[in-house]
Amino acid sequence: FAEGAAPKPLAGRRAVVTSGPTHEPIDPVRYIANRSSGKQGHAVAAALAALGADVTLISGPVTLADPPGVRVVRVETAAEMLAASLAAVQTPAGPADIAVCAAAVADWRVATAAGDKVKKGPDGPPTLALAENPDILATLSQPGPRRPRLVVGFAAETRDVLTYAAAKLAKKGCDWIVANDVATGTGTFGGDDNQVHLLRRDAAPEAWPRLSKTAVAQRLAQAIADTFDPSAT
Ligand code: CTP
Ligand code: CA
Repeated sequence: FAEGAAPKPLAGRRAVVTSGPTHEPIDPVRYIANRSSGKQGHAVAAALAALGADVTLISGPVTLADPPGVRVVRVETAAEMLAASLAAVQTPAGPADIAVCAAAVADWRVATAAGDKVKKGPDGPPTLALAENPDILATLSQPGPRRPRLVVGFAAETRDVLTYAAAKLAKKGCDWIVANDVATGTGTFGGDDNQVHLLRRDAAPEAWPRLSKTAVAQRLAQAIADTFDPSAT
């Protein structure tokens, strides 16, 4: 590359990133959701694009601007996020090279959302029957010709961060987990900083310093680029 130009080690690679929360409707005016700003996932999408990757960002409802140079698909529910992720990952030309699941997907949806607004009444509060949502990360990690070469998940934990994150790495079948401590007081939720560990299969967890979410994303994107081109510095 020309002197002064940014290196593009991920040029020609396709990446799919999920970000933000999902909203699971209770009725037309209410929903269940996770706490998520989407800042970390959007930053990952931007960082991968900055290294030259062709990035599709599958975003739940967020108030963030679209990252520059990234294709954005907006969804509401986990079911929509799964469908959009599969469509983006599994193309006729072959699977995407990289999948990063940074979304805070709602684990449950209301089994049967009401078609009309639920009204208060003399019988007291309604009881919501919940159904489990599909696991997008586990689905994308399933072995086979349609699996991306590198699948990365996030694990947000409030305690025993490394233990739970290692269990998720084993259970979901992904290659890496970025574990972050979201306990009260760490300031990660909605904030601009993040303190994470990178867990890879068959390697000791790597503690990263407290960094801005942008810096975490850049460091992760560089680590991804290094695995695709081990000769890169
Ligand atoms: N994830 C996903 N689809 C889901 C649930 C989680 O893709 N239905 C992904 C998240 O994007 C994240 C990883 O799985 O990359 C871990 O999410 P997390 O909520 O920490 O793990 P869960 O397996 O849902 O376990 P729990 O919430 O019970 O801790
Ligand atoms: Ca969860």
